[in-house]
Amino acid sequence: MSRNTETPELHREALIAAARAVRENAHAPYSRFAVGAAVLDEQGRIHAGANVENAAYPQGWCAETSALAALVAAGGRRVLAVAVCAVASEPVTPCGGCRQKLREFAADDCPVWLADLGGLRATHSLGELLPCSFGPHHLRS
Ligand code: THU
Repeated sequence: MSRNTETPELHREALIAAARAVRENAHAPYSRFAVGAAVLDEQGRIHAGANVENAAYPQGWCAETSALAALVAAGGRRVLAVAVCAVASEPVTPCGGCRQKLREFAADDCPVWLADLGGLRATHSLGELLPCSFGPHHLRS
């Protein structure tokens, strides 16, 4: 651990800003629902990604998945915090599939910050969003 990763809260505004900025690059011509996500790794680095839709609709993927791919590509191993930025009538939470993907790299107490263009709107832990989850530990037991 290094660079304040013991206190993910210190990175909250930077993470939200990264999610908001990358949302501008979303490829969402079909839903017109742009999403940005950012994840904090164990080295204090922020990795961001946007949703990427496809003319063959089921082939698209979510912003959270893009952010996780960026983390892995950069050599990151853990997710200590997550930010999602979208514009909707209520805070946008990660879909079920992305909750499981996040679970691969994050603990139950990992904060998931939900933001819109005005900033933070809601906070959950990953354990709240995906209780009693199946995870890597099951394969080690
Ligand atoms: N989407 C995300 O990228 N993340 C979420 O947390 C919710 C939904 C995307 C998928 C699709 O491109 C669009 O939003 C509409 O569902």
